[in-house]
Amino acid sequence: MTTAADTPGLTTTRAPFIEAAQAAGRLYIDQPYELYSDANHDVWHRLYGRMGERWARYANEKFLEGIRTLQLDPTKVPRLEDVNRFMAPLTGFRAKAVSGYVPAYRFFDCLRQREFPTTITIRDGEVLDYLPEPDIFHDIAGHVPMHTDKAFADTLVAFGECARAAAERVSGIADEHERLRVLTSVVKAMARFFWFTVEFGLMKGATPGELKVYGSGLLSSYGEIQHAIESPEVQRWPFQLEWVVNQGFEIDHYQPLLFVVDSFDHLFAEVIRLVEWVREGRLDHVAPGEPGISEADLVSFLEAAGHA
Ligand SMILES: [Fe+2]
Repeated sequence: MTTAADTPGLTTTRAPFIEAAQAAGRLYIDQPYELYSDANHDVWHRLYGRMGERWARYANEKFLEGIRTLQLDPTKVPRLEDVNRFMAPLTGFRAKAVSGYVPAYRFFDCLRQREFPTTITIRDGEVLDYLPEPDIFHDIAGHVPMHTDKAFADTLVAFGECARAAAERVSGIADEHERLRVLTSVVKAMARFFWFTVEFGLMKGATPGELKVYGSGLLSSYGEIQHAIESPEVQRWPFQLEWVVNQGFEIDHYQPLLFVVDSFDHLFAEVIRLVEWVREGRLDHVAPGEPGISEADLVSFLEAAGHA
């Protein structure tokens, strides 16, 4: 006899449904809502419940507005179709369920089409605090409320344009070795920009000296959201594009260095500069170091450039 405790559910790294989709090569999937176990819903409830007071203190106003708009049920894993019903009329963005990692070009190209690849599994209740891979709490509670804001949504679309510009940039390079070298540099720059803004960005608050969080890695972390704003160990600098694209980062500890934008209009202007820099070749030689760029990511760009 099976009991509730035996139900595999949709737990990160332990979901047979996801394993089957991956084995069949299916990246875009449905959200089989009935497979969530009571334990999965309980984890959502605990994660969501404890973030409320942290968001009220540290999150930027657009995020709080987004949370109110989405009307998520605090006690249950959200249905993507419910989320999309509230979000799509505002910015055209939709959460799109995926079975795992989306290679970089395809990920950015989804953003260009206002689709957000969304993980549907949820972390194990034993590891509420730290998880190296994204889960539905990170993707829906951390990212998606920001997608209800027009300037932020436009910024994501511009990332998609940036990926296209990168593919175009390398499509004309005949020498294979040079093509890969340039591509690695440009994708590294894009990954750093994404990391220090969409994932870990800070923004000026309403009063002088006040800082608020808009990065999803922070918005979905009970510990780091406070650390990012309060800790004297964190360096916080005004956003500088030439610095950000050359700045490495590590993903397995709290971030020691964060960048502050003035507003979402400012962020949008910076991503447009990023696209221009790709086209002008200014990202062809960024500083080496983290993050490493995987072969799957490079191949995804080469395919788009007609070279794979
Ligand atoms: Fe993320």
